[in-house]
Amino acid sequence: MHVTHLSLADFRSYARVEVPLDPGVTVFVGANGQGKTNLVEAVGYLATLGSHRVSSDAPLVRMGAERAVVRAAVTQGERSQLIELELNPGRANRARINRSSQVRPRDVLGIVRTVLFAPEDLALVKGDPGERRRFLDELVTARSPRMAGVRSDYERVLKQRNTLLKSAAMARRHGGRSMDLSTLDVWDQHLARVGAELLAQRLDLIATLQPLADKAYADVAPGGGPVALEYRSSLGADMALSRTREELYEQVTAALAQARKQEIERGVTLVGPHRDDLVLGLRGMPAKGYASHGESWSYALALRLASYELLRGEGNEPVLVLDDVFAELDTRRRERLAQLVAPGEQVLVTAAVDDDVPGVLAGARYAVSEGVVERL
Ligand SMILES: Nc1ncnc2c1ncn2[C@@H]1O[C@H](COP(=O)(O)OP(=O)(O)OP(=O)(O)O)[C@@H](O)[C@H]1O
Ligand SMILES: [Mg+2]
Repeated sequence: MHVTHLSLADFRSYARVEVPLDPGVTVFVGANGQGKTNLVEAVGYLATLGSHRVSSDAPLVRMGAERAVVRAAVTQGERSQLIELELNPGRANRARINRSSQVRPRDVLGIVRTVLFAPEDLALVKGDPGERRRFLDELVTARSPRMAGVRSDYERVLKQRNTLLKSAAMARRHGGRSMDLSTLDVWDQHLARVGAELLAQRLDLIATLQPLADKAYADVAPGGGPVALEYRSSLGADMALSRTREELYEQVTAALAQARKQEIERGVTLVGPHRDDLVLGLRGMPAKGYASHGESWSYALALRLASYELLRGEGNEPVLVLDDVFAELDTRRRERLAQLVAPGEQVLVTAAVDDDVPGVLAGARYAVSEGVVERL
């Protein structure tokens, strides 16, 4: 798929901007702080309902404005659709498809698919497990948009269960009557059911991604691998996770039973996909804590390129976004990366210095300056 038109109102630094887009490569060039990343961030938002830079919507709304609107015309094969998202921080966001009446924002997921690589992705390798869980879950959702519902169900169940555990812990500490634990049993079942579904999808994803990540790393940093993706589960360090949802349900249930005493003591859910991690191995060592800066960077890029290959291979080709990538690479690696991505259906590139972008990425060029986006 590709985006044929992007229209922003009160998004980030833009009061209003209209950007017609072609398939193929488009490069946004401009000095620092002019609004290049803001444009591609909006495209990413359409695909994930989130920003790659901030965890809440508030910074996405132009300072002083009440709401932001992101609109895009999208073409997939013969089909064109118009999607519109209104961001209302602190209140519910709204969405429309083809100017129809409102739909839930999550109903637009799957229309725009993106793989976005940005300097912030270094955190995939160096950051907390939450960064890697988000990476997995966003990709799981890109493969299968209905997983957005599963993820939000999981969040909800987890929150409720934690509330219950917290009051159990309080009651215990203050010597009150111990609470009726049958309610907890019900939440255990919910957690195991939804958690198993998420786990199954993550495990399937990792198995599919592994060879692609290894190949992508070899492309980006020849001879530097191999890389190994290993899921580290909170269900128990030595537990071999099943791959079927039914068996995972049993495994989560068993782990919850085992952790219950400790959970009631601590007042929080200690077992489940929200406590898991993806261990990124590089030449037999975990990249986190061991890999050099350049290796970590190559690893993050390899994970994104592997995601791109995976989604491409499964049908609807995503838009590839490379935010500020070329400045970090030496000339040889720039050329390799450019060759690799040049044939993509739509590739959006940002760069502060035009000359950093290899010539093979010929295509539309836009100058971005003080919020004005002008075709060169
Ligand atoms: N909510 C907001 N309201 C108004 N301005 C904002 C908002 N959020 C960010 N900005 C402004 O947008 C600008 C940053 O834009 P952006 O990140 O797109 O820059 P860039 O062109 O990608 O720069 P660089 O080359 O440094 O990456 C900053 O000047 C920032 O102050
Ligand atoms: Mg930028």
